[in-house]
Parts: sequence; structure tokens; C-alpha cells
Amino acid sequence: MGNLRNEILALLKKYANQYVSGEEISRRLGVSRTAIWKHIQTLREEGYHIDSVPKLGYRLEGVPDKMLPYEIANGLNTSFLGQEVFHYEEIESTNNIAKGKAEENAPEGTMIIAESQTAGKGRLGRPWFSPKGKGLWFSLILRPRVNPREAGKFTMLAAVAIAKVLREKYGLSVGIKWPNDILYQGKKLCGILLEIKAEADMVDYLILGIGLNVNLEESDFPPEVRERATSLRLELGRPVMRLELLQELLAEMENQYLLAREKSFAPIMQSWMNYNITLGREVLITTWQEQYRGKAIGIDPSGGLVVELPDKSIRTFYSGDVTLQGEPSNF
Ligand code: BTN
Repeated sequence: MGNLRNEILALLKKYANQYVSGEEISRRLGVSRTAIWKHIQTLREEGYHIDSVPKLGYRLEGVPDKMLPYEIANGLNTSFLGQEVFHYEEIESTNNIAKGKAEENAPEGTMIIAESQTAGKGRLGRPWFSPKGKGLWFSLILRPRVNPREAGKFTMLAAVAIAKVLREKYGLSVGIKWPNDILYQGKKLCGILLEIKAEADMVDYLILGIGLNVNLEESDFPPEVRERATSLRLELGRPVMRLELLQELLAEMENQYLLAREKSFAPIMQSWMNYNITLGREVLITTWQEQYRGKAIGIDPSGGLVVELPDKSIRTFYSGDVTLQGEPSNF
């Protein structure tokens, strides 16, 4: 069913701006004209604009601005990341769905993506605002054969890949704030939520949940986050094609993942250091339990933030949130 629909779509795309007759489609794909008509109806329900004129046939006039699996597949340059896609119009949290799929043995690279989330999760139990069609709200299932202590490195990997794409393809000089927030001029563009299932010494699966503010306007943000969050559209002064951006992110993440797996994490750590905007700064660290002030002086090999506290003692944090001095501190 799904494949025939994709084939019809591919044909209509190939003859963009032209009408293709039902007879022609039926001859090429070896199916009845009634079957074609049914698939055209389904495509229309999904938001494709398809004109039909008696005797001329069908013409594709518009593709929906949605992260539909066959649109993602078309032009995706990866071998496993995002090859299997589950798309939802609205879902509570893509991370929760991803966990369910991972438990059902979904293969590595499976992606869950939603147009909107009703209960998007941020780090430290915070909500993540995910309005319809305005951002990239997705989760990836990874199954690296590593010790759970290494899991945090995969968040660094994702942050480095995202920062690289935003810098090199969109010309935004974004930075990474520990642990892995992507900021532009002090405002948050993207957050990553890592969830993990593991045995004592081996990861079963990782869920990398990524929230990237793409086309939100100022008024789309709730007032309480407006001064510390931004979107690509606001910073670039133009809307961004989510589909193309997603394909670029997946390709870069896979690239980094394969490099890390086949060689080492060292280049990722190095890029993270180059992009980071935390080290050397006075910081306020909020953990689940408490807040600490100090100076961020380093990153340990598993991604922990090394901080010099006011009494000169050194403490390493493995989770928490950082407010850089001079930033609004209501995180
Ligand atoms: C953060 O607090 O910075 C992390 C935000 C992560 C948000 C993303 S959106 C897709 C995925 N699903 C969720 O519920 N959360 C993550």
C-alpha cells in the first residue's frame, strides 16, 4: 500500500508542473486506475495538493510542510540514521514513543518525529515547548556497544553535529553551553535530552531527543522563555525549510557517529571544546538538588563539567544546568 503511494508520488514529482494521466500512471505502475485514485485521495488527506482535470490527469501542486517519512527519505544521505521513521501529527513526547519502539527492538537509527508535542520533556524535569510545525521535535534510537558511563558522549556528538550544520550551512556562529545546549548570542536554539537503558556495564539503547526551534516567531514562545530562547527564523530573518535541515542534521550526526565508532571520540571532544561557551566563565550550576557557584575550568573525559568552587575546591558535575554570569538566571 505505502509503496504504491510513494511510487505515485515519485511519478508526480518527476513530472512536476505537468499533468500525468491516470492511464499513464496505471500503465507504468501496473495497477488499476481506481487504485491510483484511492492513493491520490490518501495523499490529499495527508496535505498534498494534487489537481485533477478530466482527460489530462493529475498534477502535484504542493507538498505539505510536514516531516513525512517518504519526504525525509527522498534525498536523505545516510545509511541507518533516520532510515526508519515514525511520524506523528501530535504526540505527548517523541522520547516516550522512542522508548516503546526501542523495547520492541526497533533497529538502530530509528527516528520518531512529531509536528507537535503535548508534553515535550526538557532536562531536569522541565517542559519543552513544541508548537505545531514550527520546530524539529524528534528522537533517535541508538544502540552503541559501550559502557553506560560513556553515554553522555553521544549527547556531545549530537551537539557538535548540530552546531556544525548551523555554523557551516546556515552561517550562525552558535556555541555549545554545557552540557549540550546550542545557543546563539546567549539565547537557546536547541536542547538535547538523553535517556538511556543499560545493564551494569553495557548500554541496551540510548534515546537522543532533540528539540530545535526552527520557525517560531517571537509571539510563538511563551512569555516566560521569550528572553532566553530564539529560533533560526528569528535569527536569520527568513523561514527555514525544516525537511532540508533535518536531512543535513541526520547526515552530519551519522557521519560523526561512524567516525567515533571506527576511530575515536577525540575529534568530537575537540570540536566540542572549540564550540563551547562555558569554559573559563563564572557559572551558576543548578542540579536536581542544589545550586552552586564557581568557575568552569574543564571537561572531564566523559563530559562532566569541572568547576572550581569559591573555597578553591574542585568539583565535577555530570548533570545539571548552567547559567553563565550575565545571563537571565531564571533557568
Ligand atoms: C533541554 O532541556 O534542553 C532538552 C530538550 C529536549 C527536547 C526534545 S523535543 C524531542 C524530544 N522529545 C521530548 O519530549 N524531548 C526531546
